[in-house]
Amino acid sequence: MSGAIPFVGSGKLAAWFPPDASFHASEMDSAFFTIYMAAAFAVILVVGLAFLFVMQNRRKDKNEKALPTGKANMLFQGLWVLCALGLALFAFNLDFCGFMDRQVAPGNATQIEVTARQWDYDFVYPNGHVADTLHVSIGEAVQLNLTSEDVVHSLTIPALRLNQAALPGQKTSAWFRADRQGTYDVRSNIYSGKGYPGMQTALVTHTEAGFDKWMASVTDIFAGKTMEEVGELLYNKHGCKACHSIDGVKLVGPSFKDLYGHTFDTKEGIQVVADDAYIKESILTPNVSVIAGFEPVMTPYEGKLNDKEIEAITAWLKTMSSLGADGSSQQEGN
Ligand code: HEC
Repeated sequence: MSGAIPFVGSGKLAAWFPPDASFHASEMDSAFFTIYMAAAFAVILVVGLAFLFVMQNRRKDKNEKALPTGKANMLFQGLWVLCALGLALFAFNLDFCGFMDRQVAPGNATQIEVTARQWDYDFVYPNGHVADTLHVSIGEAVQLNLTSEDVVHSLTIPALRLNQAALPGQKTSAWFRADRQGTYDVRSNIYSGKGYPGMQTALVTHTEAGFDKWMASVTDIFAGKTMEEVGELLYNKHGCKACHSIDGVKLVGPSFKDLYGHTFDTKEGIQVVADDAYIKESILTPNVSVIAGFEPVMTPYEGKLNDKEIEAITAWLKTMSSLGADGSSQQEGN
């Protein structure tokens, strides 16, 4: 049973509502409007009959005496109870299947972790990308796993008729399948302090190709950056920072200041020049030649950094070398 009976004119009533962007949304609207119209019909019927009876049976003459109240008609009362029960069951059955369907996400649903906090959201995609807006592709089942870092929040997406609480120290979840392309409101419907009005973001639904394009554009660290900037970013991102300073201070590893182009003694007693090739080798397989005075503790970055990323790191190392980009012994002076 697919849910509600399509109601003639529900299109007009739907104008009261935000656009619907998922099958669940149209299913819920349809159940809502059916119950709404049944209730409206009941109100008109009851109020109309009450009015009619009042007009018909009102005291028309001053001297008229009140009639004795009649006896309860058990048959009619029984029928009415059955009728009301029937209406309640009808309303229950309208969306019961839809309700059950909305509780359990399909097994192949894409998992997106959602963290709410005062006053924004983080969406973590399966590939680890973190965004402050929710992007999905149309037709794909998406399960949101919610939690909160501080107080009680909610994730409310009117266009999906979706509303789920995000609770501190607990996981809650909700799933949906968007079926219309567009950008829709995402907000919390639980007041959470002074920044609450700003706790809004967007749901962007893409075609599958559009989603891949978006993901590629946001995860491409080279987009809009120079090689040197990417190098610095990788230094922070990949934990090089913990062992290599950029100001000449010796940490666990040699400082990156004045590294490029300089000559170092290795433990094996040979001399190496930190040129492009040596730097690449040091990053991928650091323990092949170890610089004198240091321990071979650097983790190999083989498989973690690609050629282009190593080139970016090298380009950035050049900016910190007194020997300049070409590695020639010309002192720049400072
Ligand atoms: C756990 C600490 C540690 C981390 C993290 C680390 N390194 Fe190292 N690194 C070292 C040590 C110690 C040496 C010196 C010994 C050796 O050559 O293996 C070194 C050597 C190097 C050298 C050669 C230095 C020279 O003087 O010739 C380069 C280049 C280098 N690291 C780059 C990196 C980059 C880039 C990263 C991050 C992607 C990184 N390291 C992360 C500890 C670390």
